[in-house]
Formats: sequence, structure tokens, C-alpha cells
Amino acid sequence: MENKSQKEQKNKRIIIEARGLKKHFGGIRAVDDVSFKLYESEILGIVGDNGAGKSTLIKLITGAYKSDGGEVFLNGNRLEIQNTLQLRKLGIETVYQNQGLVENMNAPSNLFLGKEKVKPGLLGRVFKWLDKKFMKDETNELLKKLNIELKNFALPVKQLSGGQQQSVTIARATYWKGKITILDEPANNLGVEEQEKVLNLVRNLRENHNISFIMITHNLEHVFGIADRILVMRNGKIVGDKNVKETTRNEIVSLITGAFV
Ligand SMILES: Nc1ncnc2c1ncn2[C@@H]1O[C@H](COP(=O)(O)OP(=O)(O)OP(=O)(O)O)[C@@H](O)[C@H]1O
Ligand SMILES: [Mg+2]
Repeated sequence: MENKSQKEQKNKRIIIEARGLKKHFGGIRAVDDVSFKLYESEILGIVGDNGAGKSTLIKLITGAYKSDGGEVFLNGNRLEIQNTLQLRKLGIETVYQNQGLVENMNAPSNLFLGKEKVKPGLLGRVFKWLDKKFMKDETNELLKKLNIELKNFALPVKQLSGGQQQSVTIARATYWKGKITILDEPANNLGVEEQEKVLNLVRNLRENHNISFIMITHNLEHVFGIADRILVMRNGKIVGDKNVKETTRNEIVSLITGAFV
């Protein structure tokens, strides 16, 4: 019998579907026949021990690695060879710890990276003058709307804290109407308060902007605090797919360590 949350899930649109993904490095099966779905405005946590295959799985989805088998579908369409910029155009943003931003550029330049706004008229069309004021104002407005505090966003982002950098990347996803954001260890190396801010931003974006998240983390508090569903990976395989409301930390730990019989 289906339970209530399984029924609710069925009524939601599938945004990403992976089928039979495989990746090996020499003799290591880093990702071994993995299939899963990500639903509309869902926060999906992926947990597992070091080396379980979590980051490799994400890299297969984002096209950072070429898979040795399997397929990925985005809104029902098979994704062909991808790269990060192409994926951003399709609405998928990936956030790795301290990656994704150009460190020497400020927040507005990063927000408009690859999609810079040029001045209207001849200056923009012919001379490609950037409309810095527009980009700055837009950034300001967006960060305010999302409750992200950046006192001086003219600074290169490398001078911002880890949490602020992540917030800028996540905010970029909303600005460009990204529908899926993938976070690999988003709270790694962040202070407790900053972790909370990033998690609140994720919650806010899911609630108010209908964005789906895949969040890889080692922190079970985070995943239980924020995710709707948890995938557990072990030795390259998915060994658990649980609704947060129907599982316990103990069960997830057992699945992670393989203690389950
Ligand atoms: N580029 C690579 N070359 C060779 N082996 C790799 C490569 N990337 C990952 N691996 C191996 O694949 C397996 C899965 O690694 P992966 O980084 O996906 O794990 P993970 O679940 O993200 O771990 P962690 O929690 O430590 O980040 C590991 O055995 C790892 O050593
Ligand atoms: Mg990893």
C-alpha cells in the first residue's frame, strides 16, 4: 500500500530523472547503476560515507564527468553532453564549496557572469560597454529580497565569507530563474551562524521560488532539518531512499555504515 507522502510525491512533477548511471575509475565503481528522481520544489538530501560516490554522481548529472552508462532526463528530455554554462542556461546551478564564483570579481559581476548586461544603444551594441549601474542595482535588490546581508558588494568575492559566497551563488540561481540548485557540502567550513543562513536561504527559495535542491552533506542535523527526502549512497549504490518524516537518524546511520540487516 502506498502511504500518504508517496501519493503526494507521485502528484508532483519530476524535474530530474537519472537512470542507470555508471562511472568507474579503473577498478573502482564510483557510481554503480544509480537511478533516482528529483521532484518539483523538493529538497533532496544525499548522504553517505567518504568515497560513497556522492560527488561523482553530481558530476555525472552536471556533465563535469562523462558517464560510462545511463541517462539523465531534465523535465522529461534526455540531457545530451553538457557543460556547466549550458546547464546554467537550462536552469541548473551547482554550488561546490568555494567554487562557481570568480574570486577576483565582485558580487554583481559574478551574478551576471557569462550573461553580462550591456548599455542600451550604440555603446552596448557596438562597443560592448557594460551597464555596471544596472547590474549593481539588480544585485542590490535581489540580495535584499532574499535577506542576504552583504555590506560591501563592490568587494571581490574572495574577500567575502564562505557563507556569503555561497549565498551569492545560490542567489544567482534565483535571479536567472534556475529551477534546480545542487549543493555539494554547502555548509562545509562555515561557522554555525553562517550555516544557518545558507540553510534558511535554501528553505526560502524552495518555499517562495519553487526551486528544487539536491544537497550533499555529512551533517545529519542539516539533512533532517531541511530535506524532504534522503538518498543514502554506499559503495556507489543507492541503498536507501527515505522520506524524512518516515525515517530516523538511527536508520539513516545504519544505512550509511551498512549495519542494516
Ligand atoms: N577523478 C577521480 N579519479 C579516480 N578516482 C576517483 C575520482 N573521483 C572519485 N574517485 C573515487 O570514486 C569514489 C567515489 O568518490 P566521491 O568523491 O564521489 O565520493 P563522495 O561520496 O563524494 O565522498 P566525500 O564524502 O568524501 O566527498 C572514491 O573511491 C574515490 O576515490
Ligand atoms: Mg564528495
